[in-house]
Amino acid sequence: MADRTIDQLCEDLLARREKASQGGGEKSTAAQREKGKLTARERIAKILDPGSFVELDEFVEHRCSNFGMEKTVFPGDGVVTGYGTVDGRTVYIYSQDFTVIGGSLGEAHAKKICKVMDLAVQNGAPVVGINDSGGARIQEAVDALSGYGNIFFRNVKASGVVPQLSVIAGPCAGGAVYSPALTDFVYMVDKIGVMHITGPAVIKAVTGEDVTSEQIGGARAHNETSGVAHFYADNEDQCYEQIRRTLSYLPGNNLEEPPFRETGDDPSRADILLRSIVPTNPNKGYDVRDVIKRVVDDGDFFEVQPLHALNMVTGFARVGGYAIGIIANQALFMAGCLDIDASCKAARFIRVCDAFNVPIVTFEDVPGYLPGLKQEMGGIIKHGAKMLYAYSEATAPKITIVLRKAYGGSYLGMCSKDLGADAVLAWPQAEIAVMGAEGAANIIFRKEINASDDKEAMRAEKIEEYRAAFANPYVAASRGYVDRVILPEETRAALYKALVMTAGKSDIRPRRKHGVMPG
Ligand code: HXC
Repeated sequence: MADRTIDQLCEDLLARREKASQGGGEKSTAAQREKGKLTARERIAKILDPGSFVELDEFVEHRCSNFGMEKTVFPGDGVVTGYGTVDGRTVYIYSQDFTVIGGSLGEAHAKKICKVMDLAVQNGAPVVGINDSGGARIQEAVDALSGYGNIFFRNVKASGVVPQLSVIAGPCAGGAVYSPALTDFVYMVDKIGVMHITGPAVIKAVTGEDVTSEQIGGARAHNETSGVAHFYADNEDQCYEQIRRTLSYLPGNNLEEPPFRETGDDPSRADILLRSIVPTNPNKGYDVRDVIKRVVDDGDFFEVQPLHALNMVTGFARVGGYAIGIIANQALFMAGCLDIDASCKAARFIRVCDAFNVPIVTFEDVPGYLPGLKQEMGGIIKHGAKMLYAYSEATAPKITIVLRKAYGGSYLGMCSKDLGADAVLAWPQAEIAVMGAEGAANIIFRKEINASDDKEAMRAEKIEEYRAAFANPYVAASRGYVDRVILPEETRAALYKALVMTAGKSDIRPRRKHGVMPG
């Protein structure tokens, strides 16, 4: 070394960098492309601002010598880690490199991931993890398991402190799935992303079921049915755009406010078309996204879990530049009732919003909880309780807009005043009552109806009597449960004013170790 010039030493460094940047080499990179996958570094480049990536630990190597592993040493050990920016804000990132020993996770690989997670928490910035791996590196045995344990532990410690986003852009199997499951949002790319605990062969051997990998772990399966994933992407480009978009609504950490972005859309803009979207007849459906899009800035609504539990709509948007999280009953599916999947979907989204100080805006039109044996035995009591828990626990601003039905327990379940809503707004067609007029009249006027010669006429009369008395927002407004009854076209301005009004909210609760979430 002593007789080498600085230029030679620099050449040596450049050569080492070049080797590290090649991952597993030409052949395995070609195989990666054949599977329709980008390389680990290409993925990072798609997420971060151009030229912002700073790589860490590119020369880290594993120390395993079992089963000839000493002959398979690659600089970086199968994961590219570091930090950069998204829209100018710092983001930590790791991207598993399947071209190096199948992206498998051993001791050194795990330590690299843990390092960026620790830096993210210390410096208060989000972490994005891109998963593409054969799982625990089999040759490293318990050291590989320990690596996963260390990651899980950090996922939990970072939960609610910095946003954590997980991309599934390759295999992610066995216990490896639990790191993404412990993070805030899971993004799956169709065809290449697969997540399951046990694969088709093990399932066949244990239960005898014939299943395909796509059926139990594909992007569609987890976005539509299991609800494990929050975003479905047709291809990697779309997925990385979803990541950038998600980050635009979230602060770097729980002590910051979400980024404010001037959109140029007038907060006082009145939209008279809002009068014609929600039918006054409580039995008629409509798409609540049509209401949301007319209220938020530039009609720009970023839906979260758009393919799962269609009776509940969740997502991010802006009003007057403020980021908001929206929870809305979708009258188009199952009349917008609350069931197990909808409750879990909403409760989780509420908690993510609250953790990162994103105001929670609820659009309510709910007939009740879905009846049935499947729901009761599936635990609708404990899953429905999650929503009550999440709303009551949330200290971020909470604004509820009652569009139409708000019946019974589900009225409370969609963030009534009693659950800490800071502002409750109601449209003129709102019906806030224990139940719908028909059901109510049949119960409380049963004797009169049965005693009548013309039961149907009496029933209709009593339904109308109940409807006139209670199927409106004014009983609730007369008690102060509704703060304002507004014209539909006033919704955007009223929401904006409520956001400004609550911008300095502080809600300090008694000290405790942590609450006990139902379920
Ligand atoms: C070591 C691995 C590996 C692993 C893949 N490789 N997975 N090496 N440990 N876990 C190696 C392969 O031997 C191969 O090396 C290279 O990576 C590429 O793999 P291929 O099989 O050629 O790729 P492909 O055909 O695309 O198949 C991908 C795969 C398959 C489906 C992921 O590799 C596979 O089934 N791997 C094993 C998966 C597994 O059982 N992992 C343990 C899960 S348990 P060469 O040298 O041939 O190129 C787990 C527990 C976590 O992860 C527990 C946490 C608590």
